[in-house]
Amino acid sequence: MPIRKIITFPDPFLKDEADDVVNIDGRVVQAMDDMAQTMYAAPGVGLAAPQIGLNERIVVVDIGEEDENGERGKELIQIINPEIVEEEGEIVWEEGCLSVIDFRAEVTRANHIWVKGYDRDQKEVSLEAEGFLAVALQHEIDHLDGTLFLDHLSRLKRDMYTRRVKKALREGRPIARDEDDEDS
Ligand code: NI
Repeated sequence: MPIRKIITFPDPFLKDEADDVVNIDGRVVQAMDDMAQTMYAAPGVGLAAPQIGLNERIVVVDIGEEDENGERGKELIQIINPEIVEEEGEIVWEEGCLSVIDFRAEVTRANHIWVKGYDRDQKEVSLEAEGFLAVALQHEIDHLDGTLFLDHLSRLKRDMYTRRVKKALREGRPIARDEDDEDS
């Protein structure tokens, strides 16, 4: 299973709305497994298909810790065409994103969600998530609508990060923390 390249902000592809998967075939299953592999290699707790350049509604999430062999995967969730059907409560969580290099910030989301979608066997699945898992699923499903966690922040914070990234790209150096950046 190949590890795919992760697209990063401000690539405009991340702003696109992804299409529903119409056919859950071998190609989709392969893409979903590549996504899991890419997420574990990063390492991260979630990945959405647009982050590897696929304009399709697929997310993978695993908030589990490594086991005694340093492996993850026991808590892997892979959903096709995920949809949040109900949400409740509020939680503030410091989020990061594999597509948003070197930046974390607090985001307010629903604390308890119910999600519907499809699995690799074309079976309809539903799941209920709370806390960190609910945060991770909302973050990934957001990606399918072209929304990054940056879009949930104040304009000031978002602009500060955008300036930092654009400056680094202009100067051809890696994106690093600014000393005057109070976030994260
Ligand atoms: Ni993300």
